[in-house]
Amino acid sequence: MCGIVGYVGRARGVDGVAPKDHGALDVVLEGLRRLEYRGYDSAGVAVVADGRIESRKKSGKLVNLLNLLAEDPLPAATIGIGHTRWATHGGPTDANAHPHLADGGSLALIHNGIIENFAELKQELLSRGHSFISDTDTEVAAALLGDTYATLVAAGTTAKPLTEAMQLTCQRLEGAFTLLAVHADQPDAVVAARRNSPLVVGLGEGENFLGSDVSGFIDYTRRAVELGQDQIVTITAETVDITDFYGAPAQGKEYHVDWDAAAAEKDGYPSFMEKEIHDQPDAVGATLLGRSAPDGRLTLDELRIDPKLLKTVNKIIVLACGTSAYAGQVAKYAIEHWCRIPTEVELSHEFRYRDPIVDERTLIVSISQSGETMDTLMAVRYAREQGAMTVAICNTNGSTIPRESDAVLYTHAGPEIAVASTKAFLAQITAAYLLGLYLAQLRGNKFQGEIKDILADLAKTPAKIQQILDNSGQIKDLARSMANAKSVLFLGRHVGFPVAMEGALKLKELAYIHAEGFAAGELKHGPIALIEEGQPVVVVVPSPRGRDSLHAKIVSNIQEIRARGAKTIVIAEEGDEAVKAYAEHVFYIPETPTLLAPLLATVPLQIFACELATAKGYDVDQPRNLAKSVTVE
Ligand code: F6R
Repeated sequence: MCGIVGYVGRARGVDGVAPKDHGALDVVLEGLRRLEYRGYDSAGVAVVADGRIESRKKSGKLVNLLNLLAEDPLPAATIGIGHTRWATHGGPTDANAHPHLADGGSLALIHNGIIENFAELKQELLSRGHSFISDTDTEVAAALLGDTYATLVAAGTTAKPLTEAMQLTCQRLEGAFTLLAVHADQPDAVVAARRNSPLVVGLGEGENFLGSDVSGFIDYTRRAVELGQDQIVTITAETVDITDFYGAPAQGKEYHVDWDAAAAEKDGYPSFMEKEIHDQPDAVGATLLGRSAPDGRLTLDELRIDPKLLKTVNKIIVLACGTSAYAGQVAKYAIEHWCRIPTEVELSHEFRYRDPIVDERTLIVSISQSGETMDTLMAVRYAREQGAMTVAICNTNGSTIPRESDAVLYTHAGPEIAVASTKAFLAQITAAYLLGLYLAQLRGNKFQGEIKDILADLAKTPAKIQQILDNSGQIKDLARSMANAKSVLFLGRHVGFPVAMEGALKLKELAYIHAEGFAAGELKHGPIALIEEGQPVVVVVPSPRGRDSLHAKIVSNIQEIRARGAKTIVIAEEGDEAVKAYAEHVFYIPETPTLLAPLLATVPLQIFACELATAKGYDVDQPRNLAKSVTVE
């Protein structure tokens, strides 16, 4: 939640070195453009120029801020910070937008996260004569920082008052936060802090950067430094100094970003979402790449957990939220089938609060595209405290969840910018399947030849996804014709059940249509009462070549709802003629083994939701009320 950017570049004429051809504002606005997916309730920037802070902020999307800057420009500067907000404390108004100013307007602060003890701090500051103009916890943090800064300066005991003030302030804050501050009297530095909220440093030549993630500075450098928990970083054009909250020197970990700026662009598609749907063959292919030997032996070298320990696992718990949790539910069918290890899938935010049974023989598999979802992070931490082994399946290098897990299996979907997850979902299923097969290999549940056959089928999946993408005209036409639908139901069985729930989630979040996914067998236990004349129902039908009973049962379910007036839209396997008689519309997907079918059956549902939302005129990349990375609990 919230995107944060900071920049310091070489000042004009310093040491006779030419300045950069981009100013602070260029860098900050470009970073905000790339980070806008993290929140778009308001945006704001502050620069230090001519010995004072100049700031502009505006509610609504970044474009509103750009319009304001066109009317009321900021002076050229070599240091700046910027923020794009997902509202927590206080509505999405101009006053609540960041930056917040303090110390008589000489200090500007931006923040991601929630300061849990803000009410108590606010009381304290009010009693000392401070006043507040917003409803935010951020303004309280700014006031505390400004107050501390002024006290340090008055005492004259420090050469780095902003860094020291940040340390002292962070010692008093509770909750999750990334903070970035600049002060007019220290015009060469941005000081930042993080606790349980993301922050990355970008290293340049004669300039340095800060971002919520690397897309905040990907146009300028691909050298990045991961910060640890409870660290403070002070960047100038030439230096990066890291300490803990008590001033002790600390280290970050440098890494190379293997995305380029173009990978984060739309590639000619009208939206990131459409691009990302079309990226899926590559996302699955890249996630499979280099993870098995020619004889089918899986070589997950990055799983640094001792294989002997992995062999002792007697229970797996998959922790995730939203779409990632549906990927986990798909994976459960495969993992239990291949490894014979009981596998539960639990929403991260429910797990921690129910006193779960977890011990050293439990393997926690967290699934998170962003690697920053606070609910999942907290659940992983809790499980580690109970002694469990933790593996993260994650798409974002250097993010917090993999860093805090015992091991990580990265999905190689590339940057996912659209708020609604698509390619990360297919890559997560792929990675979870690799993990399941690896455990089966280790424990000897499967012969090497069997694993090799499944991997061969997985390797054919990207081409099959491509085939669906190349033939998406029919599903798009149907989606457009349904732009006025009030409610759509989705049914599935077995692995088709989480696919149905994912199809419903995509439609809810993109097209704002009521949609529910049900296990088809559950219908007659209640939901069938929803069926009335003309009710659209999308049914994910399993392969007729798989377990016969599954196919036959769902065909009966289709008949039951049709008899009650439902308009049935069926996703079925090529050659399944039987379903035709019961469907208004049939969309065929290529033949594939039952367990791999979600990698195909999800794709038409994504296209359906995206096209329907587009037909309604909605922004599919930035649906209302949502943000890409949910870094609050
Ligand atoms: C829906 C969607 C969300 C995320 C969820 C978890 O399209 O994207 O439901 O899947 O917020 O996010 P990550 O995977 O980043 O932990």
